[in-house]
Amino acid sequence: MINAWAMARNPKYWDNAEEFKPTRFENSMADYKGTEFCYLPFGSGRRMCPGSVFGMATLELIVARLLCYFNWSLPGKMLPEELDMDTIVGATAKRRNQLHLVATPYDVRMKFEDCSGTE
Ligand code: HEM
Repeated sequence: MINAWAMARNPKYWDNAEEFKPTRFENSMADYKGTEFCYLPFGSGRRMCPGSVFGMATLELIVARLLCYFNWSLPGKMLPEELDMDTIVGATAKRRNQLHLVATPYDVRMKFEDCSGTE
């Protein structure tokens, strides 16, 4: 057993290791294919997850649809820095407290009408 959780939070490899910062992966060589040992969401080696491609495609589809069809905002005057990203550890890590967001339906057709004639 290796501690992938601790490796993904090792300050030797990650800036502000405890901070929830998805942008840290922009322009970065880090990938999830099992060769970067500081980041192993799907494990590594012979017993690496065989469903990683399926899992990523499914997640991308879900997130893309949520972003395409809704505008997302924080409730009230809450600031992004105030989001509680604390986790609890079990077989998998999950949020300690629920995430509350306001989803406003977004009609993607209106976007294309706005853009008509521009490109
Ligand atoms: C985002 C989604 C997923 C994550 C984060 C994930 C993560 C993992 C991890 C960490 C392992 C252990 C790897 C190791 O021991 O080194 C694993 C194993 C495994 N995963 Fe996934 N997985 C995901 C999706 C899937 C899907 C969609 C399938 C099947 C359709 C799948 C099937 C399996 C199987 C069969 C194993 C056991 C492989 C073995 O022990 O040889 N996983 N997964």
